[in-house]
Amino acid sequence: MDVLEQLGANVVWGEDYIEVEGGRISGGTFNLRECSDTTQTLAAVAAFAETAIEITGVGFIRRKETDRLAAMVNELTKCGVEATETKDGLIVRPNLWSLRGATVDTYGDHRMAMSMALLSLRIPRIEINDHDCVEKTFPAFFSRLEGLRPEVKSRRDVVAVVAIDGPAGSGKSTVARLLATELNLPHFDTGAMYRAVAVAALRAGIDSEDQDATTDLARRTEIAIGQRTFVDGIEATDEIRTPEVDQHVSAVAANPGVRRVLVAQQRKWATELGGGVMEGRDIGTEVFPDAVFKVFLTAQPEVRARRRYDESSVQTLGDVADDLERRDLIDSTRADSPLQVAPGAVVVDTSELEIPEVVSELAHLFRLVVED
Ligand code: DC
Repeated sequence: MDVLEQLGANVVWGEDYIEVEGGRISGGTFNLRECSDTTQTLAAVAAFAETAIEITGVGFIRRKETDRLAAMVNELTKCGVEATETKDGLIVRPNLWSLRGATVDTYGDHRMAMSMALLSLRIPRIEINDHDCVEKTFPAFFSRLEGLRPEVKSRRDVVAVVAIDGPAGSGKSTVARLLATELNLPHFDTGAMYRAVAVAALRAGIDSEDQDATTDLARRTEIAIGQRTFVDGIEATDEIRTPEVDQHVSAVAANPGVRRVLVAQQRKWATELGGGVMEGRDIGTEVFPDAVFKVFLTAQPEVRARRRYDESSVQTLGDVADDLERRDLIDSTRADSPLQVAPGAVVVDTSELEIPEVVSELAHLFRLVVED
């Protein structure tokens, strides 16, 4: 609990219970000599930290049920986590962009099964071989784990928002559209709204870096997003996707005034329609932090650049990659609502997945969570 608290988790000590709430998890170095049984748990949590976590003082756990350091490094690596052994522990260097589901081995060690299973709360499809080894200390482990998923049972009376956040080229738009069809929910592309304001600024000759003028413009602009996009009644379906708009949209989206105006509209639309599949950068963190189901889609930068390049032949692959990198940096480091993984979000790396596979997996998870 002390370690989790130091990492930034919120720990509440009740009379006969402890409540731990995650959120942003930082990094650090921890000597776990006195509680070496938690090494594997912390190594699994470290996969979602913001910076590296080093565990020291536990060289002797190489001689437990299995070589626990080597085993953990092997299995985390399968899930796209960079982990390395040291003389007396291990280092985990998290990279959310590369997390992926995998089939993991337990080496007959119950703590391998239990710690690696934690990853499944955030990554879909972690398969555990020989999972029965948990019977040694905790036969009900997997049913208890299931109970830790966000409590959103039978929420037909509340707004059923599915939040899909992630960087450009992660497959968000395609996945969100298909998932909305599959779940019979409306689909909202919130990125198109920021693009629409960029179009309005370009049309009016307003500098998108001029925050007051752009905010004022956002208030006055009538935006209609659907199969086709209209900005002040004039069709802009293609215009919102031009490289010129790509150039200006990050500045528009980094403007707190514009965000206030658009976030209010997004909440209103979703509430009036009783929910929907909403895609963007801040849906799970800001627009609907209580969304019933949150997803963070990612893909390797080169895969994302290639996808964007294949969509438009106007720029070279190198230019597309540079542009994407520039926008990722602005989107994820801006002060207001930066792109980050929302607490409780399922992280999916789509680099090597087929879209229908992602959609059916997410629909399955949604039903597990919501229709339970
Ligand atoms: O997803 P997209 O590329 O169409 O998004 C366009 C821009 O808007 C991009 O710079 C990220 C930003 N955006 C945002 O800041 N918040 C959202 N909810 C959606 C998009």
